Amino acid sequence: MAEKTLSPSRFLSGTVSLPGDKSISHRALLLAGIASGESCISGISTSEDVLSTISCLRKLGVKIKRSKTDVVVQGVGREGLKQPRSKLDAGNSGTTMRLLTGILSAQTFISTIDGDESLRKRPMRRIIDPLEQMGAQIENNNYRAPLKIIGRPLRAIDYASPIASAQVKSAIILAGLYARGITRVTERSASRDHTERMLGEFGVKAQYSMGGAGVKGPADLQACDIDIPRDISAAAFFLVAACLLPDSEIEITNVGTNPTRIGVLDALSSMGARIKKSREKVINNEPRTDLIAKSSSLHQTTLQGSIISNIIDEIPILSIAATQAEGTTIIRDAQELRVKESDRIKAIVSNLKKMNANVKESKDGLLITGPTPLTGATIDSYGDHRIAMSFAIAGLIADGKTVIKGAECVDISFPGFFDILDEIRND
Ligand code: S3P
Repeated sequence: MAEKTLSPSRFLSGTVSLPGDKSISHRALLLAGIASGESCISGISTSEDVLSTISCLRKLGVKIKRSKTDVVVQGVGREGLKQPRSKLDAGNSGTTMRLLTGILSAQTFISTIDGDESLRKRPMRRIIDPLEQMGAQIENNNYRAPLKIIGRPLRAIDYASPIASAQVKSAIILAGLYARGITRVTERSASRDHTERMLGEFGVKAQYSMGGAGVKGPADLQACDIDIPRDISAAAFFLVAACLLPDSEIEITNVGTNPTRIGVLDALSSMGARIKKSREKVINNEPRTDLIAKSSSLHQTTLQGSIISNIIDEIPILSIAATQAEGTTIIRDAQELRVKESDRIKAIVSNLKKMNANVKESKDGLLITGPTPLTGATIDSYGDHRIAMSFAIAGLIADGKTVIKGAECVDISFPGFFDILDEIRND
């Protein structure tokens, strides 16, 4: 599927069952891998990124059995990982590389972790600096992967992170499980807190608040069973699609609604979207709910400051929504978008321009004025899954055909995306 062609849809209807949350899936696997005993994980993401974490853990001696979305992990205990015989391959997954580097820094062996062409371009200094402060030794190529990690005993640190990044925070907290004393991370605005929440399920008390986390090491994890909610970042594509198409109503079941991830619901609601929650519950310290989205008449919003880290993965699809909103939507403080799987500001602007949207680029964001009718175009995914899916949704409301180049990259986070879209669209 190098190219995918989309034609306009009349309306969306039906119930959607999404893959498990990708961020929570990585953490469940990593924590289960270094816990003592057998953990059963249900509802795991089948994304290529999560498969990368499974393959790295297997190379480190962790036995993992997977049948579709159910996984059984035979944890080896905190000191039980084995030196891998070959390089660890994180593929396209920043979460795999950054979180695992935190754990590998504290081992008694040397390992090398590498990634694909996109991951090799992404900044690793953000984890190397704090991990080196803890005593880690990480050889690198101008702060880029591949990373050669010479495992060493670590010390606890108190780290004020200059970037609100859950991957940075989690790398330090995971390293902190091996360091004597309390390791603390504070950040300017709150990034997702799945690691801290899940540690409690594995018997390790972690402190967490909006904007910080701490753990006392050395800490031993006990195996446990984890049920993973569906991915709100995947839900976002269909929520926006239902809002944009007339006469639409869709239901998405069991979606994770962790407070550090629901910025997309707040942003859409500030634009006038009709999205309702029902049947809220909490399992494994992670809230989840069913969501119902209906056609909506949208207006502009301003997205800046502390909400940005909460919506960082959803800005591409929110930009599509903004093209259909009355007025100028302003997105700023989002310079992190430039160092994601692609430069997402550039990818959004160049593709939206091809579709005749009214969009302006700034250093740290975008200005999008609507409503503007979109025209079908040939879209460059830049190999970035969230760009491909966002513009596939744009294709539903555009006039004419939209062709997504490099559409197979959707499998990085959401295999089955196009099948679900086919199930709920009505032409
Ligand atoms: C993630 C954190 C975010 C996010 C990424 C997943 C995680 O990255 O963009 O898709 O699972 O911790 P940053 O930590 O770089 O902001």
